[in-house]
Amino acid sequence: LGNGLASTPPMGWNSWNHFNCMIDEKVIRETGTPFLSDAMISTGLAKLGYNFVNIDDCWAEISRDDKGYLVPKKDTFPSGMKALADYVHSKGLKLGIYTDAGFFTCSKKMPGSLGHEEHDAKTFASWGIDYLKYDNCNTDGSKPTLRYPVMTRALMNAGRPIFFSLCEWGDMHPATWGFNVGNSWRTTNDISDNWDSMVSRADQNEVYAEYARPGGWNDPDMLEVGNGGMTKDEYIAHFSIWAISKAPLLIGCDVRNITKDVMEIIANKEVIAVNQDKLGVQAKKVRMEGDLEVWAGPLSNYRVAVLLFNRGAIRTAISAYWDDIGIPPSSSAIARDLWEHKTLKPRFVGNLTATVDSHACKMYILKPVS
Ligand code: DGJ
Repeated sequence: LGNGLASTPPMGWNSWNHFNCMIDEKVIRETGTPFLSDAMISTGLAKLGYNFVNIDDCWAEISRDDKGYLVPKKDTFPSGMKALADYVHSKGLKLGIYTDAGFFTCSKKMPGSLGHEEHDAKTFASWGIDYLKYDNCNTDGSKPTLRYPVMTRALMNAGRPIFFSLCEWGDMHPATWGFNVGNSWRTTNDISDNWDSMVSRADQNEVYAEYARPGGWNDPDMLEVGNGGMTKDEYIAHFSIWAISKAPLLIGCDVRNITKDVMEIIANKEVIAVNQDKLGVQAKKVRMEGDLEVWAGPLSNYRVAVLLFNRGAIRTAISAYWDDIGIPPSSSAIARDLWEHKTLKPRFVGNLTATVDSHACKMYILKPVS
C-alpha cells in the first residue's frame, strides 16, 4: 500500500496467540511495553526493531456509545486508548489495534467496523494508533475485495499513517490484490502452537512469494515461539522460515516469563537482518527431496539467504547447489552460519552441504567471491 509504511516487514508483539481474549491495559503495559521497552532495551531487542505493541480482539465494549464511537472496555482498559498510546509512544514504540470488516469481531465480544469505517479510522487516528489489524468474521457475505478497500480509504483519510494488516486468512488469495489495499495480508488461517500447523502455514505462504515486496508482505500468521508447544529446534525453524519469508515478526508469547532459549531465538540479530534486508525479496523453496528442503532468496549486495530444512525424523545431509540458489557456477562463496554465529572456514565451491537434525534447520548467508 502506498502509505509510505512497511518498507520492511513489521516487527513487534501481539496479544492473541498467548492471551486470547484475556487482555487488559495492565497486560499491554506489563507485557507489551516493559518487554518491548525496559526489558527489551536492556537486552537490545527494541533496537533490533520490535516496535509494535499490538492489541488483538476483545478490547472494546459490546456496544458503541450514543454517538457511534467504539468504547474501550471500562473494566479492562479504564484509562482509554489515547492514554495507552501516549504511554507506548513515550517508550519510543507504536501501538496497534484490531477490528473487523463485519458486524462483530470473531470473538463476538465487540463490534466490527463494517459501515463505520470512516468513523473508526478517525477514532483510531485520534487515539494515536499506528497499526490496524482488520479481521474477517461475521460479515454481510460480500467479497473482502469490496469491504477491505473501504477501510483502506478511510485510513488514508484519517490524517495519520497507519500500518494496515489484512486478516482475511487467504481464502480469496489476498496476495493477488492486497498490495494496493494493505501493508500485509494473511495467507493462511490461524496458526496453532505445534509443528504441523506451523509447517503447513509456511507452505501455504510460500506459494505467494512473488507477491511480497516493500510496502506489502505475505503474512503466515504470528509467531508461536515461546508458547511451549514445540521444541527449541522447531521454534528455531519456525523463526528462520518466517524471517527468510519476509513475514511479519510479531512475537506471540507471554514475554513476562520469557526463557533464555526463547530470547536467544527472537533476539537473533543475524536472522532478523535477513528479514529486514532492504531488497525485500521473499525466499522460495528451490529444491525439495522428500522431507528435505532448500529455501533461498536474494539479499542486498549480491548475497543469498539459504535455509536447509529437515522436516523428517532422521538427521540427514542437505545440499544447496549454486544452480538452485542463484550463485554463478564459477563463483566460490563465503558462508556465515546465522545460528552458530560463525563464518565457516572453507570457501564453498558449487554447493554448501550440511547435516541437519530432525525437525530442524540451518540458516546461512552466502556471499559470492569472484
Ligand atoms: C482470527 C484471526 O485470524 C486471529 O489472528 C485473531 O485475530 C482472532 N480472529 C481474534 O478473534
